[in-house]
Amino acid sequence: MAVEKKTFYIRTFGCQMNFHDSERISGVLARNGLREVPDGEADLADLIVFNTCAIREKAEQKFLSELGRLRGLKKRRPGLKIAVAGCVAQQMGRELLRKAPFVDCIAGPQNIELLGHSMGLPDCNDNPDCNGKNARRGRFVFLDENQDISSLELPAARKGKPRAWVSIMYGCDNFCTYCIVPFTRGRETCRPSGGILEEIRRLADEGFREVTLLGQNVNSYGSDVDFPGLLAMADRVDGISRIRFVTSHPRDLSPGLIEAIGGLEKLCEHIHLPLQSGSDRVLARMNRRYGFADYMGKIEQLRRRTPGISITTDIIAGFPGETEEDHVATISALGQIEFDGIFAFKYSPRPGTAAASFHDRPQPGVATRRLGELLALQDEITLRKNKALEGSLQEVMIEGPDASVGGKRLSGRTRTNKIVNFGTAACEGANEAGLREADITPGSVVSLKIIKARRHSLEGRL
Ligand code: SAH
Ligand code: SF4
Ligand code: F3S
Repeated sequence: MAVEKKTFYIRTFGCQMNFHDSERISGVLARNGLREVPDGEADLADLIVFNTCAIREKAEQKFLSELGRLRGLKKRRPGLKIAVAGCVAQQMGRELLRKAPFVDCIAGPQNIELLGHSMGLPDCNDNPDCNGKNARRGRFVFLDENQDISSLELPAARKGKPRAWVSIMYGCDNFCTYCIVPFTRGRETCRPSGGILEEIRRLADEGFREVTLLGQNVNSYGSDVDFPGLLAMADRVDGISRIRFVTSHPRDLSPGLIEAIGGLEKLCEHIHLPLQSGSDRVLARMNRRYGFADYMGKIEQLRRRTPGISITTDIIAGFPGETEEDHVATISALGQIEFDGIFAFKYSPRPGTAAASFHDRPQPGVATRRLGELLALQDEITLRKNKALEGSLQEVMIEGPDASVGGKRLSGRTRTNKIVNFGTAACEGANEAGLREADITPGSVVSLKIIKARRHSLEGRL
């Protein structure tokens, strides 16, 4: 008789790095014979994992309230194991176990591979970390600095075919004064290029067509090759049609990378380059180590080498000491640069960071108003830039069904990372366009005419 496999469910918060960590947690648990269950069966799983984010207070609160709801579930099902991974686990540490005594295991981002130990998995048997020092009364704590994470080749159970994330570095040494990441992800370490390329080749064999190289500051990647060197090697992997990367720090954006974006065939024409503020005074206080003029200079070089490149950014509104004049500088930066899209958030003080002790924060109402102004201006710009694409032909890689409506409509992305949806009628036109059905499946690249632009997506036709 077949033995029922134990099951697990993972709930993920935060950035792409965290989502990829979840794929690896899932890979490690699957290697140990556990079966992952979908959202609908979460409450029945033998192990529930939260992979958490601490970037802003809101993200943390959301996790804590979801975790709170498990208290009752654990009472009803004492056999249930609950594990907390990721940035909140690292940052709160044992305090989390005090606050939530029903949690069985915590593991920081540098120790994700140890997380299943609370389940007594086969991996544990010969692992010295598992027994003894990290376990107390059946509860496990894995928070040690672990630089080896960059050379650990963990299996990943990926979900996003035809797109895949590939980690190239871990941690961050920048210590921007608002940011918790250097505290939760530890010191910067780079994964050797050999392992990265081997993984990309394997992904191509498995049918993945696009890879996104991940790191908090990919421009400072350095092992046996530098970042442009790594990109050039990845660009030569057969079977992969697109390469992307996140995130870039403006200070380290090198001429070599600007050249690579313009020159390499598979490397897409998009860069996410967080500006944070348009005011030099605020940038200095954030410890960003560039001024607005330096940033603008890099934008000009990028656009000169790669006309049509899409550029997106992150902005923080209401940083301590931000005056109306500083805010106007950010507004005028948005107007001048015309980003393709921005992610803007209100500043949120994080425990232990330098800025948490800056006591001159604008009033909450002021920060909210400033954020609103930034978003409203950018909405206009994004729509205007998308409208300019109407009538153009775009190379679109199909990703799957259009998530917003489902059914027969398909969705994909341009090289510049804009979402394009197209409908059944367009598919029926495929024969006329000389395409076979096999040409319109996830992973294939089609040429679409943009017939309508919206703020968050484009409508295309074959
Ligand atoms: N490594 C990336 C950013 C990672 S965090 C980089 O340096 O570009 C993603 C974004 O979250 C940051 O760019 C920043 O805009 C925002 N962020 C980080 N800490 C924040 C905080 N304490 N409050 C508000 N936004 C924050
Ligand atoms: Fe945080 Fe700055 Fe590092 Fe980005 S570069 S992760 S914002 S400390
Ligand atoms: Fe959040 Fe950690 Fe990523 S704090 S944004 S999950 S690095």
